[in-house]
Amino acid sequence: MINVDEILSKLTLEEKIKIVVGVGMPGLLSNPQSRVAGVAGETHPVPRLGLQSAILADGPAGLRINPVRENDKNTYYVTAFPVAVMLASTWNRELLEEVGKAMGEEVREYGVDILLAPAMNIHRNPLCGRNFEYYSEDPLLSGEMAAAFVKGVQSQRVGACPKHFAANNQETNRMSVDTIVSERALREIYLRGFEIAVKKSKPWTIMSAYNKLNGTYCSQNRWLLTKVLREEWGFEGFVMTDWYAGIDPVEQLKAGNDLIMPGKVNQVNPFRKDEIGEITEAVKEGKLSEEVLNECVRNILKVLVNSPSFQNYKYSNTPDLEAHAKIAYKAGVEGAVLLKNEKVLPIDKGAKIAVFGTGQIETIKGGTGSGDTHPRYTIFILEAMRKLGLKVDEELAASYENYIKRMRETEDYKPVQHPWGFLVYPKLSEDFLSEQEIKKLAQRNDLAVIVISRISGEGDDRKAVKGDFYLSDDELKLIQKIAEEFHKAGKKVVVLLNIGSPIEMISWRDFVDGILLIWQAGQETGRIAADLLTGEVNPSGKLPTTFPKDYSDVPSWNFPGEPKDNPDTVIYEEDIYIGYRYYDTFGVEPAYEFGYGLFYTKFQYSDLKVSLDGESVKISYSITNIGERSGKEISQVYVKSPKGKIGKPLQELKAFHKTKLLNPQDREEILIEVPLRDLASFDKEEWVLEKGEYEVRVGASSKDIRLKATFVLNKERRFLP
Ligand code: GLC
Repeated sequence: MINVDEILSKLTLEEKIKIVVGVGMPGLLSNPQSRVAGVAGETHPVPRLGLQSAILADGPAGLRINPVRENDKNTYYVTAFPVAVMLASTWNRELLEEVGKAMGEEVREYGVDILLAPAMNIHRNPLCGRNFEYYSEDPLLSGEMAAAFVKGVQSQRVGACPKHFAANNQETNRMSVDTIVSERALREIYLRGFEIAVKKSKPWTIMSAYNKLNGTYCSQNRWLLTKVLREEWGFEGFVMTDWYAGIDPVEQLKAGNDLIMPGKVNQVNPFRKDEIGEITEAVKEGKLSEEVLNECVRNILKVLVNSPSFQNYKYSNTPDLEAHAKIAYKAGVEGAVLLKNEKVLPIDKGAKIAVFGTGQIETIKGGTGSGDTHPRYTIFILEAMRKLGLKVDEELAASYENYIKRMRETEDYKPVQHPWGFLVYPKLSEDFLSEQEIKKLAQRNDLAVIVISRISGEGDDRKAVKGDFYLSDDELKLIQKIAEEFHKAGKKVVVLLNIGSPIEMISWRDFVDGILLIWQAGQETGRIAADLLTGEVNPSGKLPTTFPKDYSDVPSWNFPGEPKDNPDTVIYEEDIYIGYRYYDTFGVEPAYEFGYGLFYTKFQYSDLKVSLDGESVKISYSITNIGERSGKEISQVYVKSPKGKIGKPLQELKAFHKTKLLNPQDREEILIEVPLRDLASFDKEEWVLEKGEYEVRVGASSKDIRLKATFVLNKERRFLP
């Protein structure tokens, strides 16, 4: 076992400074490619002492490495899992842990030490370009999902890295924008998920965020990285910057940001000096004490001594991709959300189906940027429906295949290489079929399936315009024409939403009979969609984020900050009132509420009992499957606090439970304990739980409350952070 203090005593000053700064983005400009091509960063080795470099790679939907390498006949494909928002839609801790384990195995067997995931920033606004990559609008759901995922990853003896710490809830000017937010909103909303993850899963590392927080860069913010993260929460790993984040490496080390990634910032910012030079100078000039430097080195080494690279682990380069594909499929099935079903789903496998929408072929597996992945395949929706033996209208399929092929060869619609290496596909018009053609299709088919797709990614936020948050005119026209003709012919219409975050639904959802949200489910997306449509498997997901009726209903109205054209500041004026905390409290009706999701079966809730027991509240209730099909129910426990000195949302999620698979008539007894501290609000320096009557509300969603019971606190309680 490597003795950290012994190493520390042997390291020269120069070697110590190299340990706290990355080697530079592998493969960028003159930098040598990593031994694992395509990773995001490496730490410096110390050959003299036999210390290897450690390797850090993205991302939340799967390991991101190059699938092929120069002069190497082998391939290095990974598993593309469902995106984080879809994983959160499962509300299934065991499943997140299983996904984390599978991903962790690929990380280890491809020679990587730390996975730069989970990404877990709160969905403050539906237009954030990376919301696909984040779990939820609610900190409890985010934290529980992250903790389960981290446990899974780290069970494989590699590290995880919850990111981006903290309040990085937009992509616009993310590297410089100053997020102004109250300490209460930080503690209760933007930090809370990280707190749960740190305390429950002990991540090896944390990634500080790009943005400033109340005036100080997160990566230079000692209150955030030392007082809160370490002194209050007991974090024992190391903190790394986001890539090229912040402006002062010395301030980063002093704040408790131990590792500066990827290193060589002057390669991308000519106004900056090399971090190693800056730190060396600061030590020599006495501006940075060697004790501080030693602390950062110690924090890094304490973690890395357990890493595969430091342990000289002989990795195989052959992780079990077959087994992981099954896990990706299972996670996607459980993360799909049935939003509408007027006696149309599941469909008859013998039905003749007209499949519309270019997304049936250009199916979206996930978002773009560092959260991208390179799987062996992505099964697209049309292909999966054919493989399942469904009777798709092949003439219509051919017209889509030809249309896409033809358009992608034109100047305006050919795929364009993004500076970060991925291809950008300009959005195609969906309205290229004539009314006559649609009428004929309605005559000869039993059902219409329409795929609506959206993609977004790192570096850019979405826009509240047609073709993004709103349907484009051609998408709306296509839906209207199909609905008219198929309904006239007595046939039904189903929409598949292949999207990574909410779009507007009200203007078109009444035209169709069924809506299945398949998010961006990774490499198995098509198979997941086909199997859910036919009832091979049953949907059991629920929304981890609100679908507002209109963008004007969203409380974070000043997103992405001021001045509008080039924001340098974003003030979280809505404070704690985001998502359902806002909509429920101020009576704003959403299109689909937090926690909503339909199933192919029905569940009955009964026997709620609530009792105070020392430092916690004991809550028990039963759930029975009273429908005809098996399924898993996600019950949510909200608490409504008494009116007091501190303003509170109408209700807040304080626990949730997913049953095992319940067959018709099966019943599950549920017992949940909620620590009283979890019900408190942050008020100035501490957590306050006011006296009065509390209402426990057990629901199938945040608005579909099935059972209620109360308990009384006779005196106020206060808890230190
Ligand atoms: C990016 C992302 C971060 C990622 C890192 C390395 O800028 O913000 O999520 O892990 O750089 O690719």
